[in-house]
Amino acid sequence: MNKMKLIMDVDPGIDDSLALLLAGLSPELELMAITVVSGNIEVHQAARNALFAMNMIGRKDVLIAKGCELPLQRNYVDATDTHGKDGIGEVYYPKEDPTNKQSASEVIIRLLKQYPNEITIAALGPLSNLATIIQMDREVLKLAKEIVIMGGSVNVCGNCSPVAEYNFWCDPHSAKIFFDAKLPNLSLVPLDVTYKILLTPNMRETIRQFKTPISQYVVDITGFYVDFHWAQERTLGCVINDPLVIAYLLDRSILTFKSGHVAIETEGLAMGESVVDFRNTDRYGSSNIAQSVDSKKFFELFLSRLFHEHMEDIQRMIEKRMIL
Ligand code: BDR
Ligand code: CA
Repeated sequence: MNKMKLIMDVDPGIDDSLALLLAGLSPELELMAITVVSGNIEVHQAARNALFAMNMIGRKDVLIAKGCELPLQRNYVDATDTHGKDGIGEVYYPKEDPTNKQSASEVIIRLLKQYPNEITIAALGPLSNLATIIQMDREVLKLAKEIVIMGGSVNVCGNCSPVAEYNFWCDPHSAKIFFDAKLPNLSLVPLDVTYKILLTPNMRETIRQFKTPISQYVVDITGFYVDFHWAQERTLGCVINDPLVIAYLLDRSILTFKSGHVAIETEGLAMGESVVDFRNTDRYGSSNIAQSVDSKKFFELFLSRLFHEHMEDIQRMIEKRMIL
C-alpha cells in the first residue's frame, strides 16, 4: 500500500489526543512525526500527552518533537478551562517525556526537504510552529503536498469570542503569517463543520462498554470535556474537532469545500477572526474551506478504527439507532 506521509502538529488536548489515536491506528497513514505546540496546554505537558496517546496504541516508534512555548506576540492563554489542568481532562496519568531533542521546526524542515511534495501536514493547534518555519524560510512549507488546518469560524460564532476560534485566537499573529504566505494546497476545517462532530452520551457509553484499554482512556479523558460542554452551552456530550481532519485525509468524501481567501485579524475586538472572502479564489493565496460534513461517515470511521474488535457491536448500535 502506498501510504500517505503525514506530520501532525498538535497541542494535546483532548480532541488532539483522539486525532492522534485515529491517525496512529490507520494503516493508510505513515505518521512521520508529531510536532507539538503550546495551545490547550503548554508544550511540555502537551508533548507528554502526545507520547501517552501513542504509547496507548503501541506506537512508540513515532517521533515527537516540541516546538513553540509561546505565541509569537500576544500573551499566552491556555485552554485548561476546556481541557483540564493536565490538558487531557485531569486524569493525571503517569507521564513520560519524549526523549527526542530536535525541535518541531527542525523536524518539519528536514522531512519536507527529504520528501518534497510527498508530505501532508495536519495542523490541529495554534499555528506558532508553522509561522516560525515561514519566518526562517519562506519557501520550505511549499514543499508540503498539502496542509490541512483545524481552525477558524466562518459563518458560525467562535468559541473564544463572537468571531474567533481558539487556535487562531491563541496566536493570531502566527495565523496571519501563515495565511499571508500564499501557500498552495491549503484546506481549512473550521468550527462550522467541527461543531457537528458531537460525541454523544450514547456513543460514549457504548465505548465504555467495550472495556478495552483504549475505550477506558477515551472515556476517562472526555469526562471533563463533557462537563465543560454542559456548563458552557448546555450541550450533552462533547464536540471532538481535531479528528475530523484526520478522518478527511482517510476519506475525502467526509467534507465538501469551497475556495476562498482567508485573512486573519490580529488586534482588538475581532482578534483571531478568520475573515473569508469567497469572491477571491486565486490558486495561490486561497484555501479550500470546508462547507459541509458527513458526521455519520466520520463516526463510523472513527469508531471502527479505534475499536475494530467491536465492529459488530458498533453496527448493532447503529441498526438500533442508539448511535448515529
Ligand atoms: C480547537 O481548539 C482546541 O481547543 C481544540 O483542540 C481544537 O483544535 C477548537 O477550537
Ligand atoms: Ca487542538
